[in-house]
Amino acid sequence: MNKVLIINASVRDEKSYSRKLTQIFVENWKNRNPQDKFTHREVGLIQIPTIDKKWIASAFIKPQDRTKQNQSGVKFSNELVTELMENNTYVIGTPMYNWSIPSGLKSYIDQIMRINETWKFRSGEPDGDYVGLFNNKKLFILSSRGDTGYGENENNAHMNFSNHLFEIYF
Ligand SMILES: Cc1cc2nc3c(=O)[nH]c(=O)nc-3n(C[C@H](O)[C@H](O)[C@H](O)COP(=O)(O)O)c2cc1C
Repeated sequence: MNKVLIINASVRDEKSYSRKLTQIFVENWKNRNPQDKFTHREVGLIQIPTIDKKWIASAFIKPQDRTKQNQSGVKFSNELVTELMENNTYVIGTPMYNWSIPSGLKSYIDQIMRINETWKFRSGEPDGDYVGLFNNKKLFILSSRGDTGYGENENNAHMNFSNHLFEIYF
């Protein structure tokens, strides 16, 4: 059985193309795999908190060394990370905004990038070698945009920071 986490990032609701795309994708999936479990995580219509100094003060301390106050700094981040771990397939529906991803999706990514929990330096110290700690997961990105020329070797390829970010993070 697959556990599918659906993440939508458009700040539009009914009029959103990326949400329609995601909906069609998920409906097809459900028809073929009715036993699978689906969970929704909203990052566009609901404000995902940006990380702040309290978050940083907590996230860079080893979990076992966190005080109660430290723990509160990463409470929501912990919920998001647990949700990611509990699922094995991710579907992200997102528009391109200003050649990049929407800020809600970036805030979500900042929340889940947890050193030694979701990624690490290979040697354990800053060494220029970054290792993701999630294995055997599948990701589908369904993206909409208004303009053209962002494909490989096209005139706006260098402006396509969404693709670049997806390559880095995922
Ligand atoms: C604030 C904003 C910035 C946008 N920036 C770009 C852009 O840089 N390149 C592009 O091709 N389309 C851009 N668009 C168009 C959207 O990517 C396109 O309309 C997309 O379908 C919006 O997603 P949605 O329909 O899921 O809301 C932008 C739209 C908005 C509202």
